[in-house]
Amino acid sequence: MSRYAHITGWGVALPEHVLTNKDLEQMVDTSDEWIVSRTGIRERRIASPDQTTASLGADAAVEALKVAGLKPTDVDLIIVASSSPEHIFPATACIVQDIIGATRAGAFDISAACSGFIFALNMAAQAIRTGSINNAVVIGAETLSRIVNWQDRNTCILFGDGAGAFVLQASGEPGGVLEAVMHADGSGADVLSLPAGGSKLPTSADTVAHGLHYVHMDGRPVFRFATRVMAEATQEVVAKAGLTLDDIDLIVPHQANYRILEVAARGLKMPMDKFMVNLDRYGNTSTASIPIAAAEAAEKGRLRRGDKVVLVGFGGGLTYGALLAEWTGPLPDRPEVNPERYRLWAKVRSTGLRLKRKVLSQTLGEDKLGG
Ligand SMILES: CC(C)(COP(=O)(O)OP(=O)(O)OC[C@H]1O[C@@H](n2cnc3c(N)ncnc32)[C@H](O)[C@@H]1OP(=O)(O)O)[C@@H](O)C(=O)NCCC(=O)NCCS
Repeated sequence: MSRYAHITGWGVALPEHVLTNKDLEQMVDTSDEWIVSRTGIRERRIASPDQTTASLGADAAVEALKVAGLKPTDVDLIIVASSSPEHIFPATACIVQDIIGATRAGAFDISAACSGFIFALNMAAQAIRTGSINNAVVIGAETLSRIVNWQDRNTCILFGDGAGAFVLQASGEPGGVLEAVMHADGSGADVLSLPAGGSKLPTSADTVAHGLHYVHMDGRPVFRFATRVMAEATQEVVAKAGLTLDDIDLIVPHQANYRILEVAARGLKMPMDKFMVNLDRYGNTSTASIPIAAAEAAEKGRLRRGDKVVLVGFGGGLTYGALLAEWTGPLPDRPEVNPERYRLWAKVRSTGLRLKRKVLSQTLGEDKLGG
């Protein structure tokens, strides 16, 4: 029997603190008028000190599980896509797994910058279709405010914090993720990057002095690349699925810049109202922007069961890709669950395991010393 990977739950986590363009005028030499006319962005959210990429990702995942009616212990796989992961390793997905109490789940991160959510969703859907797993949580989560130079007006006006998550479930019913295309052009690796902090340029006093631990971007080539690939990837995925653009009900693009979306819409000869846009309120939240926009579309009734939706994005790497899905929404026979309850249990469990590990390592240490 054929297996399909259905999108049955979604959730978002958006920090409360709003940073407006007016606020930015006090921080760098810019203006609300410049930012709105060049990007369409009016405000963005900034994580509070106690929020992290994993905590936002976990909040979004819990919301998504609630919608899908799944317990954290039902989850087989968690993939986090992030451009601002908590560490190089361990994976942010493992921290999310611990917070939400998804004790049976494998967990890993994907690094494909802003295209990451599309790539991750495609990987999870493949794992479901092959019969390897049944339930997956795919998360895009960011605290970009921590890696942006707040004195660099070229970048700091663009980005925001937040997280979005989808639940994917196996089913024999046709639908769900239908096709995807993934592309990369590493010759453009240098135009959008976080230069230091990896193994090539480990963090040092010198890298910090030169601000190499912040996002660096050459905006114009990224803009040119984006305007070309958004329409290209959309057409490619639609053709691969044997459909035409007329079959598509909604496009949920990466929310980087309104002008990029206008060029893509012109290239596709599609009206802007076929595009879900909320970048005016959240800015560019990298991997999180597509699930945040899709969740809003679903909640506002712009994405309904049976709709054909294209998710399309681009980002550092350079990477780009698109994914075509038939929207499902929560399954009718789903049970009422409260994944929130599992958090407390997960915390107790995690504390117990940490304590046990400490005690054991001490005992073994003493054994070795003959104590
Ligand atoms: C960043 C971006 C908005 C800049 O817009 P642009 O129209 O290309 O602007 P330019 O870089 O040509 O700069 C034009 C002028 O505005 C200035 N400028 C740049 N940032 C500014 C700001 N925040 N406020 C005011 N002026 C600014 C520049 O210094 C330049 O001045 P100059 O002509 O005196 O040198 C645009 O290139 C872009 O969106 N690129 C893609 C970025 C992106 O999406 N990145 C994320 C990928 S996932």
